[in-house]
Amino acid sequence: MAKRPGREEEGGSRLGPGAPGHDPRLGPGASGHDPPLGPEASTLDPQRLPDEPPQERSLRPGSLADFIGQASLKDNLAILIGAARKRGDPLEHLLFYGPPGLGKTTLAHLLAHEMDVPLVATSGPALERAGDLVGLLTSLTPRGILFVDEIHRIPRVVEEYLYSAMEDGRLDIVLDRGPAARSVRLNLVPFTLVGATTRVGLLTAPLRGRFGYTGHLDFYPPEELRAIVERAAGVLRVVLDEESAALIAGRARGTPRIANRLLRRVRDLADVQGAARVTPEITRAALAMLRIDERGLHEMDRRLLEALVLKFNGGPVGLGTLAAVLGEEEDTLEDLLEPYLMQQGYLERTRRGRAATRLAFEALGVDPGRAQERLL
Ligand SMILES: Nc1ncnc2c1ncn2[C@@H]1O[C@H](COP(=O)(O)OP(=O)(O)OP(=O)(O)O)[C@@H](O)[C@H]1O
Ligand SMILES: [Mg+2]
Repeated sequence: MAKRPGREEEGGSRLGPGAPGHDPRLGPGASGHDPPLGPEASTLDPQRLPDEPPQERSLRPGSLADFIGQASLKDNLAILIGAARKRGDPLEHLLFYGPPGLGKTTLAHLLAHEMDVPLVATSGPALERAGDLVGLLTSLTPRGILFVDEIHRIPRVVEEYLYSAMEDGRLDIVLDRGPAARSVRLNLVPFTLVGATTRVGLLTAPLRGRFGYTGHLDFYPPEELRAIVERAAGVLRVVLDEESAALIAGRARGTPRIANRLLRRVRDLADVQGAARVTPEITRAALAMLRIDERGLHEMDRRLLEALVLKFNGGPVGLGTLAAVLGEEEDTLEDLLEPYLMQQGYLERTRRGRAATRLAFEALGVDPGRAQERLL
């Protein structure tokens, strides 16, 4: 199973940015290793940070109508919900995939709300033994939702139990070993499995094939992010003008979680300055303090591009080498940094490794021809 930086579950134990002497990204899986990330990393990191769950929950849209963007996904979900409700069936098993912070967990909760059923949440790594799964599945009420976050991290032995649970609504459990072994069949109430993953490629074919619908979440365009920022400002009772909302939206790496986090940092600066409302000046100042540039690139984005352009003349260079040079986990680069840089056209994944595009050279103010000369 791929190693990745620790991610806390809601209300989990990840150390907070406020915890003295601790890197905010140090999760349980990264014991003893201090990733060399600056304070700005906690702004970029689209994953949940422990100071956030209560606020995140309050910022979470409560119904599908409140969920901004991802129009075609929403249309499909509305049909699935409408049809299931009409027939009195549970929803189809659903899989959401896409980069962190785009709304997968939010959608799972929305589905439960729209279907008017309870949701039981767990995550792939928490399902260590088949018994963990049995406990959760047997606790469901009819048509209830079992939400499995990071579903690509389910241990294979547990995953195999999921197959018959999803397909036939039953679990065949083997008790005892050797000659005394016997199998017990448990019939389950009709339920819906909602899976979420940032790494759909790591899911096995049999598991993927058992989902009735797979929804992809993509980075949000600036107009949608602006609407998200404005909505969040309303919830947090922050007064901000259109320009400030647009500034935040443009620097949020297409990610609602980052947009909400930037909004909170901007609000902090306004509060400290005793300003009654957020202005574009305050917003610009806050964004500059967080070292987010005009192009919306964060410190870590620039570090990656700089390494690629300045040390490797734009590449291609293997992921492992790049990660080693940056002192980061490969997973961090793959999950957190690369998807956005590729979507924005700064980076390409080639057969021979990662390569910087002309846009990356431009962003760093380096002439590609010059870089070539210097290397010769
Ligand atoms: N479309 C949206 N409209 C408004 N707010 C959103 C939207 N999508 C996400 N958010 C906000 O962004 C935050 C992060 O969303 P969420 O936790 O659902 O992301 P995720 O895809 O599950 O991330 P991860 O992969 O890290 O689990 C939430 O606080 C939510 O309020
Ligand atoms: Mg989530």
